[in-house]
Amino acid sequence: MPSSQPIGVFDSGYGGLTILQQIVTRLPQYDFIYLGDNARAPYGNRSFETVYQYTLEAVKWFFKMESPLVILACNTASAKALRTIQQNDLQKIDKEKRVLGVIRPTTEIIGNFTKTGKVGILATSGTVQSESYPIEIKKFFPDIHVFQQACPMWVPLIENNEHNTAGADYFIKKYIDELLSKSKDIDTVLLACTHYPLIKNKIQQYLPSTSTIVSQGEIVAESLAEYLQRHPEIEKKCSKNGKRSFFTTDSTIDFDQHASIFYNAKVESKHVHLEQM
Ligand code: DGL
Repeated sequence: MPSSQPIGVFDSGYGGLTILQQIVTRLPQYDFIYLGDNARAPYGNRSFETVYQYTLEAVKWFFKMESPLVILACNTASAKALRTIQQNDLQKIDKEKRVLGVIRPTTEIIGNFTKTGKVGILATSGTVQSESYPIEIKKFFPDIHVFQQACPMWVPLIENNEHNTAGADYFIKKYIDELLSKSKDIDTVLLACTHYPLIKNKIQQYLPSTSTIVSQGEIVAESLAEYLQRHPEIEKKCSKNGKRSFFTTDSTIDFDQHASIFYNAKVESKHVHLEQM
């Protein structure tokens, strides 16, 4: 058995670091390897086919790095690629490996936060168009009404570190107003994009003060802890040296400068070139 079998955590860019931060807090003993496909981010407006292809390339890379388990810490990739990878590709590549997403753990509990039964979903255009959230929430909470709002400008603003500017405020307010115009009774708003925790305070500013804002980091971390408990055959493969490694498909200098905003700690990344399919 290889000495290092880190749990893989993937995002199109930096957003997945907000999830990784919570995961390493909850499960510090495990080794983790993070990959941001920054050279090709954002994924939010890309087609199903493209997001699937990019995500599969990343998953294959994690498997080469000996990850027994990969978390797609990206809603867009979870919405557009996860099911096909789980149902078709894993059979062909390696039946022993596992790939999990962030949508299922969130939809399992989101209904517990609302009193009015009206939940708002803020996400990328890709996640919204996939209808993954309304479909999945219906399975667990059939009586809840889901209102979706695509926020296509938010990830580019955050990836470019422009989210604390007046220009960003304009777009934050714009999408919140559009969401609230769909129902005035929305009392729970899910940040269904792993980049959005960075603008949580600003989102809060434009929502009614009684709103509950739910971000995914802690939810996904808890769900992973439970998954590892339920699946000892996967858990025993995950190496436990408390090691974290970071990789990016773009400039490591940019990544290291920017990543700490998302991860709240210093990061030293290595460059990787993903093999095109
Ligand atoms: N962080 C990814 C998500 O959760 C987003 C983004 C993108 O690349 O557009 O959807």
